[in-house]
Amino acid sequence: MTREPLQRLEPGLPASWYRGPAHYQGELEVFWYGKWIAVAREEEVANAGDWRVGRVGNQSMVIVRGSEIKAYHNTCRHRGSVLCTEETGNFPRGRIVCPYHTWTYDLQGRLVATPRRMETPDFKLSDFPLYEVAVDRWGGFVFINLDRSAAPLSGVVGDRENRYQHYRLPELRIGKRIVLDVQANWKLIAENFSECFHCPPVHPEFCRIVTSYQEAGAWGLRGTPESKPEYKAGAATLTLDGTARLPAFPALNEEEKQRLYMADMLPPNLFLNVQPDYVNSHMMFPTGPQSVRIVYDWLFEARHLPLAEADLQHYVALWDITNRQDAQNCQWQEQGLQSREFRHGVYVPQEFDVHRFAAWVRACLSGSGASR
Ligand code: FES
Ligand SMILES: [Fe+2]
Repeated sequence: MTREPLQRLEPGLPASWYRGPAHYQGELEVFWYGKWIAVAREEEVANAGDWRVGRVGNQSMVIVRGSEIKAYHNTCRHRGSVLCTEETGNFPRGRIVCPYHTWTYDLQGRLVATPRRMETPDFKLSDFPLYEVAVDRWGGFVFINLDRSAAPLSGVVGDRENRYQHYRLPELRIGKRIVLDVQANWKLIAENFSECFHCPPVHPEFCRIVTSYQEAGAWGLRGTPESKPEYKAGAATLTLDGTARLPAFPALNEEEKQRLYMADMLPPNLFLNVQPDYVNSHMMFPTGPQSVRIVYDWLFEARHLPLAEADLQHYVALWDITNRQDAQNCQWQEQGLQSREFRHGVYVPQEFDVHRFAAWVRACLSGSGASR
């Protein structure tokens, strides 16, 4: 992705797109019910029968491991009860049993039993399979797509398979998970992730390690090679003091070990902060026009887990502080956007990537569906 500053101020998206329920409803259809959404790590459904619920907008899905990972709407075909009333669990004997009248499905979504139903000649079990949802996987993440005719996930993943090959993302495991409810529209979170104009005032801790971010997103954009180094001298990874307590991922080459930080977004909902020895991922889910739930995971090589509490804190602290600072800023922005006077913001040159995101949003909404 090219890094080129904007040549002039560009208008932001209309303020009403960040607050109104009607616009939100349209965005749910286009972005959240029509695109690939990361809902879980594969390890969350590690064994046969393991399931977890995934919520996207007002849709609830059951992600389940049978012979492979499948996803179904969390809705019984009899009279529509939810099937899973908890967040996670295991289906004993490979059977999904509705809590209402106990219609029973197998892990392939087939209706296999309807206890106590009086027989009639018009009834066929095969007429009532669960509503299946498209599933794909990348980097150890389980993605679903509510649009059954969606283009494959590979179109979104692009060249990442190559780029992250040495990081072996599928083999990483969750060392820490933090879930945060943030009172801000989902696009504010994505926009915030796409610029570093805010880094100096908002993220002093982060800027002490990624020193290039003290330049407010202008680093490397002035056409002349930067004289200041990108990271704090001697830093080995992104922690509060830049020290590492784990070795770098074993397959990384020298250049990758020196690259202490890569930020990446698979829109609309997956954000990656990639370090040489751990990854901090964010899965974002809209819960309303002005709210999201964000699931932050800290991913490590399995062989290091569980980490000693002090080591875990050493790795969690910097991104936890930084993520909360970002969340707070997005909440303040959402509050300010309520003004009847505010029509739209503007993007300054360093906010070229936010501008790119906004262009993608506009394109998707206008039906052209251009990929970002
Ligand atoms: S609604 Fe599920 S069995 Fe009746
Ligand atoms: Fe930030």
